[in-house]
Amino acid sequence: MVWEFVTDTPEQTQRIAENLAALLRAGDLIILSGELGAGKTTFTQGLGRSLGVRPGIISPTFVLVRIHPNLPEGHNPGGPDLVHVDAYRLATPGEIDDIDLENTMDSSVTVVEWGEDRVEHLAASRLEIELLRAVGSGTPQAVRPAEAGQVAGERGEAPDFADSFDADEDDGEPRTLRLRAVGPRWANTDFSKLGPLSQNTELAINPCES
Ligand SMILES: Nc1ncnc2c1ncn2[C@@H]1O[C@H](COP(=O)(O)OP(=O)(O)OP(=O)(O)O)[C@@H](O)[C@H]1O
Ligand SMILES: [Mg+2]
Repeated sequence: MVWEFVTDTPEQTQRIAENLAALLRAGDLIILSGELGAGKTTFTQGLGRSLGVRPGIISPTFVLVRIHPNLPEGHNPGGPDLVHVDAYRLATPGEIDDIDLENTMDSSVTVVEWGEDRVEHLAASRLEIELLRAVGSGTPQAVRPAEAGQVAGERGEAPDFADSFDADEDDGEPRTLRLRAVGPRWANTDFSKLGPLSQNTELAINPCES
C-alpha cells in the first residue's frame, strides 16, 4: 500500500511523524529517502519526540549511527530506543552489515536516512518513506550540496537544528510525503489518519501495491 500526504511546514512533517510513532514498536525499520534537505532528519526529530527518546537528533554528518535511548523519566518510559542511521556514504549492503544494526534492532525503532537499496535486507517488514519537494515550489534549497571535488565523506555541514522548531511558518515549503508499507507487519494498518492525505487519492491508496 502507498499512502501520500501533504505537508507545508517542518512542524506538519513532524506531526505526521509523531502520529506514526504511536504505531511503532521495537524491531520496526523505517527507510527514509529524498534529496538533500528534503526533511528526513526533520521527520526523525518528530519520531524521536513522540517516542520519548533522548533529544538531539541531527543529521549525522560524520557519525553513521546515533542511538537515542528511551528516557525512563520521559512520557513514554519502557518504549523502544531510536537508532538513527545516515547511510549517505555507505555504498554497499556489506558496509551496512559492518555497523551491526542487528544488535540494536530488537530493542529499537531503526530509522535509516539514505537507506534505499542499502538496508532492505535487515527486516522482512519495513516502512519506506520518501519526502518530495512539491513540483513548482520554487528554487530548491540545497541545504548540504555534495560539492563537486569534495573529498568523499565530507558532505557539507547541516545547519544546527533543534529538535523542535519555533512556529515560524515562513520556514515552510510544501512537501509530499509518500509512505509505502511493506511486509506482514503492516498488512492491515490504516495510515490514513497520520495527516492530510494528498488529493491524488489514486496514488494515495493503490491496491496494486503490496
Ligand atoms: N514541509 C517541510 N517538511 C520538512 N522540512 C521542511 C519543510 N519545509 C521546509 N523545511 C526545511 O527543510 C529543511 C530539511 O532539512 P533536513 O535536515 O530535515 O533534511 P534531510 O532530508 O535530513 O537532509 P540530508 O539529506 O542533508 O540529511 C529544514 O531546514 C526544514 O526547516
Ligand atoms: Mg538528514
